Amino acid sequence: MGQPLTVGIVGCGAISAQYLKTIDRLPQVKLVAVADLDTERARAAAAEYEGVEALGVAELIADPRIRVVLNLTIPAAHADVALQAIAAGKDVYCEKPLAATGEDARRVLDAARAAGVRVGCAPDTVLGTGTQTARAAIDDGLIGRPIAATATMMTPGHERWHPNPDFYYVPGGGPLLDMGPYYISSLVTMLGPVRSVIGAASRTRSKRTIGSGPRQGEEIPVTVDTHVTGVLVHESGVLSTLVMSFDAVATRAPNIEVHGERGSLVVPDPNRFDGSVLLTKLGDGEARELPVSAGYTEAGRGVGLIDFLSEPEPRAGGTMAFHVLDVMESLLASAHSGRSVDVESTCERPAPVAFHDPAAQG
Ligand SMILES: NC(=O)c1ccc[n+]([C@@H]2O[C@H](COP(=O)([O-])OP(=O)(O)OC[C@H]3O[C@@H](n4cnc5c(N)ncnc54)[C@H](O)[C@@H]3O)[C@@H](O)[C@H]2O)c1
Repeated sequence: MGQPLTVGIVGCGAISAQYLKTIDRLPQVKLVAVADLDTERARAAAAEYEGVEALGVAELIADPRIRVVLNLTIPAAHADVALQAIAAGKDVYCEKPLAATGEDARRVLDAARAAGVRVGCAPDTVLGTGTQTARAAIDDGLIGRPIAATATMMTPGHERWHPNPDFYYVPGGGPLLDMGPYYISSLVTMLGPVRSVIGAASRTRSKRTIGSGPRQGEEIPVTVDTHVTGVLVHESGVLSTLVMSFDAVATRAPNIEVHGERGSLVVPDPNRFDGSVLLTKLGDGEARELPVSAGYTEAGRGVGLIDFLSEPEPRAGGTMAFHVLDVMESLLASAHSGRSVDVESTCERPAPVAFHDPAAQG
């Protein structure tokens, strides 16, 4: 193994603990420092890991020891932090969505291209065994020609459990921009890029009530659509039906299904790395579980960083994240205009991930 990838984290909120845990077990990645606008959060995160320093945000971004800035701030800050890191000559790996708007995301990708640095973006969950085993099944022809897919995410909303859920209800959030990246990245990984969309959306409440933590009971404003549904027309002709909602109490619909001429697949939750892939073949009464055949096993958030060491374009990469954001913005534009919208961007399907444990590579 060569030199480990040196990383600095900006944003030490709820999700940072999962990244810290993953990085701690990846020998290829070394965490150098953490930073947050809230210096106490950075200090607390650094205290948990030997050799990790708590720095100011600008100080971390300028630190010559750090090659990749891991941007775990809220969506509204993603572009600003990414642009600062790029200006300092760093690669950036960003939590999803790549930016709060497509326009901001475009600025990030343009700046990175001009600076000759790379952009990665969550979700890397689709590099896990769940989506990758399903993708391998499709590529191996187990369902025949893919025809259609469904993707369903319905919850009552994240304000029930997140102590600072404000960002879920302003531009950059909502069920589509928050959870859509998992589902649409999984669909694009399996079925390729999207050519056009037809959407519809609604907003049921103008306020939400925080359900946990020190701000429990506080009302926060809602300025985004909270139930978004639509059809994605993939370049291949496959039609994916999407429902993303913070307005439903519960659902028993599978997260994702993919239907082909000769078989149907149940694909596990794309917000997780693992899970069972079920195949029902035409003429079979019962679904059978497919053996795990591809993807990072034992993976956690942050595993997408490994590609910075070897792949020319990170698989959880900026180009795909931009396309996914473009699909989501196009869906909302369609919902508001009542017309089908062509998606201007496209991307390659990222290279498949072979079945292995990234931490065991040494
Ligand atoms: N919470 C989850 O379960 C979860 C899961 C997957 C992905 N994510 C994504 O991770 C990102 C962060 O979510 P979170 O839940 O950790 O949010 P959070 O509000 O808990 O944490 C965000 C942190 O970023 C800091 N921050 C904000 N702007 C900053 C800036 N300009 N410079 C430095 N620090 C700044 C805040 O002080 C805060 O500590 C979001 O993009 C979210 O979509 C969250």
